[in-house]
Amino acid sequence: MLRHDVVVVGAGLAGQRAALAAIEAGRDVAIVSKLHPLRSHSGAAQGGINAAVGAEDSVDTHIFDTVKGSDYLGDQDAIEFFCREAGPIVVEMEHFGTIFSRSDDGSLARRPFGGAHFPRTIYAADRTGLALLQALWERLGSERLTLYAEWDLVDLVVRDGRVHGLVAFDRTSGEFAEIAAKAVVLATGPAGRVYAKTTNAHSCTGDGIAAAYAAGAFLKDMEFVQFHPTALLESSILITEGARGEGGLLKNASGEQFMVRYAPHVKELASRDVVSRAIVTEVKEGRGFSGPFGGYVHLELMHLGRERVESRLTEICDFARRFAGIDPVTEPIPVYPAQHYMMGGIGTDIHGATNLTGLYAAGEAACVSIHGANRLGGNSLLETLVFGREAGRAAAAYAATAPAPEMHASDLEAAAAPLRAWSARTDGEDPSTLRTEMQRTMEECAGIYRDAAGMLEGIQRLRALRARFEKVRVVDRSPVYNLNLTDALETGHLLELAEVILVGAYARTESRGAHARTDFPKRDDARWMRHTLARRTPTGPALDYAPVAFTRFEPTERVY
Ligand code: FUM
Repeated sequence: MLRHDVVVVGAGLAGQRAALAAIEAGRDVAIVSKLHPLRSHSGAAQGGINAAVGAEDSVDTHIFDTVKGSDYLGDQDAIEFFCREAGPIVVEMEHFGTIFSRSDDGSLARRPFGGAHFPRTIYAADRTGLALLQALWERLGSERLTLYAEWDLVDLVVRDGRVHGLVAFDRTSGEFAEIAAKAVVLATGPAGRVYAKTTNAHSCTGDGIAAAYAAGAFLKDMEFVQFHPTALLESSILITEGARGEGGLLKNASGEQFMVRYAPHVKELASRDVVSRAIVTEVKEGRGFSGPFGGYVHLELMHLGRERVESRLTEICDFARRFAGIDPVTEPIPVYPAQHYMMGGIGTDIHGATNLTGLYAAGEAACVSIHGANRLGGNSLLETLVFGREAGRAAAAYAATAPAPEMHASDLEAAAAPLRAWSARTDGEDPSTLRTEMQRTMEECAGIYRDAAGMLEGIQRLRALRARFEKVRVVDRSPVYNLNLTDALETGHLLELAEVILVGAYARTESRGAHARTDFPKRDDARWMRHTLARRTPTGPALDYAPVAFTRFEPTERVY
């Protein structure tokens, strides 16, 4: 059996920053990751990271913008902490070697992003996540870290409300392994692959969220799902908000800059929920373009000039040329919203602690909550670093005095049993069939606009899929890189989480942030200024609610 003080699951920015913090605190640390760290989804983040470092900007304005962006559901004490840490942690990443873009005077370049009063988003062209990931991985490389790469999390081992370690599956050998740990940090990213159209990588299957949920942790605010306004048509590859920050315009089929009607003050730079709804409305009401991949609108960059587009938006030029046959320097980009981010996740405090002793979470897998009902662009990369570090520190502090974990051989057998059963079955369904049906259900029933009838139908369809999953069959028998087996494991996680999203959304009879109900179009602070908490039961998620923390901003109507 393997043993470490702290085991971090997930090797994106949150996981790496947690590992670094725990190592700096003197603990023996391992990372378990289903991907090589440099292939983590953090590397797909394009537009930038927020920090109020300019003379005209202030931490207080960053706090206010984040509270307003969250539609007042974000916990204000957590948001204050988060925004205060922004400047120092970005400077730390610069000292670790991140090559940020620069202004002419040599200072950190900043671009405007949606919902922000000032240009606050610091960037490395449109490859900010990758630049941060490479610098942090290089920094971690000089530390004593054990890496179990291409290992899947199968189950957490929890007894009497305390985590003792985990069972993992080594993709490279097909072997199961037990890892005893005094503390576990889950930084496994989101579950965006519950949807068919998503900017999330194929690896974003909510493994850590599902494992925490199965182990008795509560999930918070899972009904709040962010749709990014500008995903490339057909492939749903992210076209960064930085494109609008640089001056890109959204136009409908009549050539009208339609955001003027929806957000007269800031237009294309309203918050994401507002812009996504505007695009969907334009298309629904017949003012968009239509084609074999559905309706869409145009994102125009041509007026910005070749030099600016190619130097600041290098990556999206490449994506548009390769995946849509469009040259953004001379042609508009066809875009439509796609799932992008989950505001919800494993409920934690600001130090990453969950309701299970020794279990911590950070990054998109967690919900602190700082994003409330809608996240501002540029706050996600910041979240990974601020709360990754907090979770790593807290896990290390707990592990310093925690009793030795107790793992038994039966823990491995119990965790491995379902996977062995899937492989032993001689008939049953392929996981990919169930995954595709789940994704279609979520697109149809839990999209940008929702209503009771659609969500109820979605819940029933998901329950039927979960029943069919009981008989899932893995036909590939190979021990090495058996992607049929990992597909089944991930599909099981996604099915659980899809149900939590829909059950929470159905119960919340109001519209707030990214949760837009056509049957309850208004925000209802009297009844719904509260967080949703979901706990797993044998019959599905059981919901409870928790208060929102207020410090100084009273809720008002959100207008951009
Ligand atoms: O549009 C973007 O570049 C995405 C940024 C974010 O989600 O924070």
